[in-house]
Amino acid sequence: MWTTVIIGCASSGATATNVRAPLGAHLTASAPTGAPIPLRFDSTARVIRSTAANLPPATYWPAQAEYGERVFNQTCATCHARSQFVGESFVETWNDRRVFDFYALVRSTMPLTNPGGLKENEYLALVSYLLEANHAEAGTDSLRSDTLALRSRKIAVRFP
Ligand code: HEC
Repeated sequence: MWTTVIIGCASSGATATNVRAPLGAHLTASAPTGAPIPLRFDSTARVIRSTAANLPPATYWPAQAEYGERVFNQTCATCHARSQFVGESFVETWNDRRVFDFYALVRSTMPLTNPGGLKENEYLALVSYLLEANHAEAGTDSLRSDTLALRSRKIAVRFP
């Protein structure tokens, strides 16, 4: 099942100096596929999140997650605490979703000051890191930038 959420949000040309504190976005539990995530830099941005509970879990390599932690600390930690993406609310929001949807969200929107500006393997590592941090199981296969593979695997995370 696919649900497309299109959010219109006044974009005020966010820059490093005028961005507000991150994660004002609220995800309503009652929304069937999760609530919209406001994307302030692009009023036409689309966030697609589909439920795919019957897919096999996405896997990653522990080394990939480790690399992702370094990327996170260098690139994301200026605006985000790790705890914003680890724990109950992340699990509620993303468990059983296609891993592609999260990957695509992060790649197309973050870092806020330079969306899409990281290398492919850095985005994959970031996703691996957040999977690991939310107790997803590592596998013998790395998380690869193969759209089909990313679409046919789900995020399998848990809390606590
Ligand atoms: C310059 C500050 C900044 C940087 C750097 C940044 N972010 Fe963000 N991020 C934000 C803000 C602000 C929001 C909230 C957007 C909104 O609510 O409109 C956000 C939202 C998000 C969301 C959506 C959260 C949700 O569920 O609502 C994710 C995921 C995310 N960021 C991941 C990352 C990752 C991963 C990186 C590192 C590559 C990163 N961000 C770097 C400012 C930043």
